[in-house]
Amino acid sequence: MSAPKKLFIKTYGCQMNVYDSERMAEALGGEGYVETKSADDADMILLNTCHIREKAAEKVYSELGRFKGLKAEKPDLKIGVAGCVAQAEGEEIMRRQPLVDLVVGPQSYHRLPEMEAKTRAGQKVLDTDFPEEDKFEKLKNRPKAKRGPTAFLTVQEGCDKFCAFCVVPYTRGAEVSRPADRILREAQDLVERGVREITLLGQNVNAYHGAGPNGDLTLAQLIWELDKIDGLERIRFTTSHPNDMQDDLIEAHGTCAKLMPYLHLPVQAGSDKILKRMNRSHTAESYIRLIERIRAARPDILISGDFIVGFPEETEEDFQATMDLVEEVKYGTAYSFKYSTRPGTPAAERPQVDPAAADDRLQRLQALLTRQQREVQDSMVGREVGVLFEKTGRLPGQMVGKSDYLHAVHVADCNRDAGELARVRIVSSGANSLAGELIG
Ligand code: SAH
Ligand code: SF4
Ligand code: F3S
Repeated sequence: MSAPKKLFIKTYGCQMNVYDSERMAEALGGEGYVETKSADDADMILLNTCHIREKAAEKVYSELGRFKGLKAEKPDLKIGVAGCVAQAEGEEIMRRQPLVDLVVGPQSYHRLPEMEAKTRAGQKVLDTDFPEEDKFEKLKNRPKAKRGPTAFLTVQEGCDKFCAFCVVPYTRGAEVSRPADRILREAQDLVERGVREITLLGQNVNAYHGAGPNGDLTLAQLIWELDKIDGLERIRFTTSHPNDMQDDLIEAHGTCAKLMPYLHLPVQAGSDKILKRMNRSHTAESYIRLIERIRAARPDILISGDFIVGFPEETEEDFQATMDLVEEVKYGTAYSFKYSTRPGTPAAERPQVDPAAADDRLQRLQALLTRQQREVQDSMVGREVGVLFEKTGRLPGQMVGKSDYLHAVHVADCNRDAGELARVRIVSSGANSLAGELIG
């Protein structure tokens, strides 16, 4: 038997890309590929790319340039670009970087085995279709290895919201929900392979409305179905849009014990003028009222957010409104970005904010968010939390896991294995993690 071919995948961007990379590895696993951690000994390199900001997209080209020497040494090496840059730029990628053999979009990667065969026959291949067939169904009978305690599971994909700054509706396409039975089957399978925590993924996950036996299910109804799976201990979901935060989902945060007290709910900005220009279709006030309702259902919930500063026509006063909103909500964690012009999106044509002013605003916002994050993390000291252990720590006997609130927690003298859930008392708060001790 010949040695297995080696596949190196590098993943950029959001969790959905992480999930997609796993599926691509499984698809090529069926063709005799095993994954390698180093590009140097690979027979095939796949970059699973992100187009969300200019920097993310440009990284791909600098990374590709680095493979030049490798390809010269190893003419049989195949190089592919997958993901959102593949979708957005298509053939242009091969023009800009001739060493690319294969370009595959996020909706057609179930065709990778056929594409790989064509590259082996010396062809260059490109597939950025949005096919009718369900890629997940095409992929389901692939080799399945044992898994770690946490996993992502895509339940919804694409977006119909068309925020004025965002490429996702173009790169991922229209919003589509997977049927509930397929999701439940996949979840059951993950649990049988060792998974204890599942994060449901979607670009607009709370707009989920997948087919069920008696009509469409809401995300909350899907969560209640998942709740019945024995051995599944924790459920999370991301990313949500404020306008799709339905009553039954808010209620589930108060009543479903497996649903973790953590919610990523991007607001982007605090000025109604900017929100309107972003096409967000919610106001700062409606967002704050929504957070109040969620906290009424689950008082200890940790709120996470996304922010963009320097959106076209943002004034200092508009920016202050973002700072005020942050002060009011108090975030446990947050991601903030300087606006990046994306070709083809409506905001790209508008008057841009002075980059130095945008940098300054980003620094001020991040200072505030970091302080809040720190306060929320420090407030965990003395509290009892659930921790799902994921791996051993650097010190002997130490285990590391995530709390219900998604904080990293280190526990010393911990006689527990990865995949075990324990009650832990938090004893101290460090730079980026908490330390705790087992209870009982
Ligand atoms: N579907 C999710 C996430 C989309 S991308 C949602 O709707 O929230 C993740 C984050 O990237 C966004 O929330 C936004 O804050 C940021 N982002 C998107 N486009 C951007 C752009 N052109 N410039 C800067 N940040 C951007
Ligand atoms: Fe992009 Fe807006 Fe859709 Fe989120 S809701 S993916 S930011 S268009
Ligand atoms: Fe990036 Fe595509 Fe995700 S643009 S953030 S990889 S959906």
